[in-house]
Amino acid sequence: MFRNPSNTVSESQSLLLYHAAQLVTPIGNALKHGKEMGKLEIIPDAAIYIEGDTIIEAGPTDILLKKYHPEKTGMESIDLTGKVIIPGFVDSHTHFVFGGYRPEEFIMRLSGAQYLDIMKMGGGIQSTVDATKNTPAETLFSDGFKRLNDMLSMGVTTVEGKSGYGLDRDCELKQLEVLNHLNREHPVDVEVTYMGAHAIPRGYPGGSDAYIDFMVKEVLPLIREKKLARFADIFCEEGVFTPEESERYLGTCKDMGFDTKIHADEIIPLGGGELAAKTGCASADHLLAVSDRGIQMLAGSDTAATLLPCTAFCLNKPYAPARKLIDAGCAVALASDFNPGSCFTNSIPLIFSLGVIHMGMTIEEAICSLTLNGAGALKRADTIGSIEPGKKADITVLAYPDYRFLVYHSAKNIVTLVIKNGKVCYDEAKRGV
Ligand code: NIG
Ligand code: FE
Repeated sequence: MFRNPSNTVSESQSLLLYHAAQLVTPIGNALKHGKEMGKLEIIPDAAIYIEGDTIIEAGPTDILLKKYHPEKTGMESIDLTGKVIIPGFVDSHTHFVFGGYRPEEFIMRLSGAQYLDIMKMGGGIQSTVDATKNTPAETLFSDGFKRLNDMLSMGVTTVEGKSGYGLDRDCELKQLEVLNHLNREHPVDVEVTYMGAHAIPRGYPGGSDAYIDFMVKEVLPLIREKKLARFADIFCEEGVFTPEESERYLGTCKDMGFDTKIHADEIIPLGGGELAAKTGCASADHLLAVSDRGIQMLAGSDTAATLLPCTAFCLNKPYAPARKLIDAGCAVALASDFNPGSCFTNSIPLIFSLGVIHMGMTIEEAICSLTLNGAGALKRADTIGSIEPGKKADITVLAYPDYRFLVYHSAKNIVTLVIKNGKVCYDEAKRGV
């Protein structure tokens, strides 16, 4: 069952969740670094009282039941015996609005073809650019809506979505408008990123420098004027944008008022991690090939180190060094990177399994990285990412009595209920109703 909170069946203004076997949450309004990531608050037999879209109080059920009475008129209450409450997940890196699919590339890669070689041959991102140009905005919207429903059913309450499959002005604006439209129409919050700097358009006269000038002069001012994106992102990679080009571009984006992100050190170690820390990006994403210097610099910065385990899994590459990054004091976020090329999965359960079983993170760190640190990677840790008074009531409920089932029940979706802005938006029991 999927409901838009602004159009919900219930008229109730307040909601009491009670008798949850556990409430598990990081605490804070900013990114958690290093060993702080593993420190979660765990309350047994827990309750939460919500008014409107805001958490008023969270704590033991016996205390909250004395203050807030479920029988009071206008209050909805839900008994969560045998279930766990955690913050809604924040998937802080996706490319979920796109046209077409690329199964043939996936099969080519399984036989040894390299991602960057497919891109050089005119496939990869460029083939999704062609398909996205040929897809009407209405189709991008309806496909995007279905993908958001799927994310919500896995407990995601906020997602970041990038453009970057247009590269020219009009198709980039089309993607950004669809992302903004989805944000208005779907319960899941969509944070929008302009990623015109995803690739250099085929045969662009003047190459990368001229294309950067085009984005800066002809696209970014329009995006700013229409308030279509909060972030700007660039693919800093061999054969795509150099660190020097990335620095120039992101510096200009910052001057224009955008927050910045970098696809950094995904395949070749070019110093993207260092650049992100040095220029104050909200996040450095991928980091499969991050250098020791990059790790040190990220640890001393407010830039999230956003790792995308499903991409490494789908590309069959070694995972990013999560343990090393956390031990060095970095603030690690985990996200899906959902896209039609390098990672055609948005599976939150798979992220948990890979993060904990293959990347050496603890379950507690993985929870922090998909909640508060995901929020921090979007500069929203002050309003979402944890269950605390004053934060938005974005809450995910698990079908088992112990949060460790998130990994123990490997790669399996155990989300049973999702509350977004204080309203039940997904209920597994009523799926299909
Ligand atoms: O994050 N690396 C660049 N961008 C995406 C892939 C996009 C695509 O292959 O379509 C990524 O992996
Ligand atoms: Fe990406």
